[in-house]
Amino acid sequence: TIPVIVDCDPGHDDVMALWLAAGHPALDLVAVTTVGGNVPLEHTSRNARIALAVAGVGDVPVAAGASGPLARELSTAEWIHGENGLGGPELPDPDTSPTRVPLDPRSATELIADTLEAASEPVAIIATGPITNVAVFLRERPDLADRVREIVWMGGSTERGNVTPYAEFNAWVDPEALDRVLGSGIRFTMVGLNVTHRALVTSRVRERLAAVGNRTAAFGDELLEFFCRTNDDVFGMPDGPLHDPVAVAVLADPDAVEVVHTRLDVELVGAETVGATSVDLDGMLAREPNAHVAVGLDVERFWAAVELAYGRLG
Ligand code: BDR
Ligand code: CA
Repeated sequence: TIPVIVDCDPGHDDVMALWLAAGHPALDLVAVTTVGGNVPLEHTSRNARIALAVAGVGDVPVAAGASGPLARELSTAEWIHGENGLGGPELPDPDTSPTRVPLDPRSATELIADTLEAASEPVAIIATGPITNVAVFLRERPDLADRVREIVWMGGSTERGNVTPYAEFNAWVDPEALDRVLGSGIRFTMVGLNVTHRALVTSRVRERLAAVGNRTAAFGDELLEFFCRTNDDVFGMPDGPLHDPVAVAVLADPDAVEVVHTRLDVELVGAETVGATSVDLDGMLAREPNAHVAVGLDVERFWAAVELAYGRLG
């Protein structure tokens, strides 16, 4: 099993990413950190705890990190995720629910550092929001960079964007953080909209996941109902794309996601293109490859992994 830290901004699809990481037999979820993104940090931190509480995962620490990007104002996405970030179901209190998930008093950087130092092998970081926390961690603790097995991030796109014509939300919220992480030399995999737009929550998918029949599945179905409705309203995509779990699938089932080694850069200035990811798939720039970029998804394998993980949770 691969030990993983999930850094997230829940967010409906972040919850599903946490569940895939917590439930999949190929992964060992050892810590969770949160960042301001889809909604402000107070909500994302509480929502991560709710996600674990619902799934009966009481032994994974959750610590809060950056409330906003390195160099910009935080822009949020209530239009997709609702005011509290998890529109749809009635939310339990993670401090009093049967599985209690308190907020760890450490900062995200401290929790990541402690986790890496305690682990017997390098730990992977899966980031499913603006990648601010990872950038801050690498700035504050460069001595621990070699304890990071690799970084897999949901964000960017080899094609068009979802918040401006060419920028994806996580990249656009904190492009400076992405730029720093790319410069770290740690193995980096980008899982962008070009593949996550294939992980569509069709009614068939919803039925299949709901049929798992546990508390996780029931709560998840209420999340998906809301998420598909807002994706329909905003993007005209009634089968909402479940972005974040695809990044987890890269490690849970590597055969589910096809990646290529290529050159990845992010636009930091640009009148219309800030936050756009430039992926040199055809080698036009003749620069050294610096990242792995997802280019294909085995949709059936992906949902099978999600279903398997659901079934192993509460
Ligand atoms: C990303 O933005 C967020 O709204 C989702 O949680 C996902 O991480 C998709 O662009
Ligand atoms: Ca997210």
